[in-house]
Amino acid sequence: MYQILEKEVLSETVKLMVVKAPQVACKAQAGQFVMVRIDEFGERIPLTIADYDQEAETITLIFQEVGKTTIQMGTLEVGDELITVMGPLGHPTPIENYGTVVCIGGGVGIAPIFPIARALKEAGNYVISIIGARTANLLFWIDRMESVSDELILCTDDCSRGRGGLVIEPLKELLATRANNLARIWAIGPAVMMKFVSLTTKPYQVPTIVSLNTVMVDGTGMCGGCRVVLDDGAQFACVDGPEFDGHKVDWDILLSRLQFYKEQEREALAHWLELQAQQEQACALVEVPA
Ligand SMILES: Cc1cc2nc3c(=O)[nH]c(=O)nc-3n(C[C@H](O)[C@H](O)[C@H](O)COP(=O)(O)OP(=O)(O)OC[C@H]3O[C@@H](n4cnc5c(N)ncnc54)[C@H](O)[C@@H]3O)c2cc1C
Ligand code: FES
Repeated sequence: MYQILEKEVLSETVKLMVVKAPQVACKAQAGQFVMVRIDEFGERIPLTIADYDQEAETITLIFQEVGKTTIQMGTLEVGDELITVMGPLGHPTPIENYGTVVCIGGGVGIAPIFPIARALKEAGNYVISIIGARTANLLFWIDRMESVSDELILCTDDCSRGRGGLVIEPLKELLATRANNLARIWAIGPAVMMKFVSLTTKPYQVPTIVSLNTVMVDGTGMCGGCRVVLDDGAQFACVDGPEFDGHKVDWDILLSRLQFYKEQEREALAHWLELQAQQEQACALVEVPA
């Protein structure tokens, strides 16, 4: 069992948990993820290792509440335990001194981009980070990103903090003025954001690495659920990724596969909410004085 040692609410729908997971913490590297199961009835979901502390034997997970499992996970508190934290999985991000690099994090993608930006900075790169969210309340870890970036650009769709508009806008300006000087770009966020980052950088031929958030089931290369189609064939995000060359990804197939289980996801959430309501009702009845 994996105990939750800390919990922080980063925004309305994004929560952070520090979890005691000695075997994962001792091997974790930037870019890797874990498969988490809340209890014996739960499904496995992939979550990126947003940070790790080998001495304290802990990992940090940051998740956005989007469906049954993440909403249920958000109800857990310090002292509660997760039944499974399997990993670290996936290939670590290859870290070298490339020169000037750009790290882009969108929404909850700010969490996984942080350890990558930190590792790139430690390797001697000049790190330009762009982080964006719909509104200021959804931006988090600005201080952390600042501490590992030579330049940090904040964006909000509604202009409530930093530059108004999508992360693509400052990226376009960087490409127009400094493309020859940019060695590599990492982008992590919603699939549609990673698609447009890749389309924007392609004409400039700046290598662009994306971390694909495919639907995963086993995380070990056996179920085929996380198949991604690239120019040179199909691969599995869990064992061949999660990072891929953004210029090679077939984004239309990726986006349509993410919609594949929409109906089942909706049913699972509705069923869980119904069970929660029944449980609350039963508790209320028990509390009624005789
Ligand atoms: C390698 C990897 C690392 C990830 N790291 C993180 C992380 O650090 N933090 C985080 O919040 N999320 C992360 N995700 C996404 C996370 O796994 C999903 O949000 C989660 O599985 C949703 O489960 P659910 O039961 O709560 O929602 P579901 O009911 O399964 O889905 C609800 C909604 O979310 C969408 N969705 C489902 N799965 C994904 C997915 N994999 N990516 C994007 N949207 C999805 C569905 O289309 C649906 O609209 C990661 C995904 C991968 C593949
Ligand atoms: S999650 Fe099953 S093959 Fe990748």
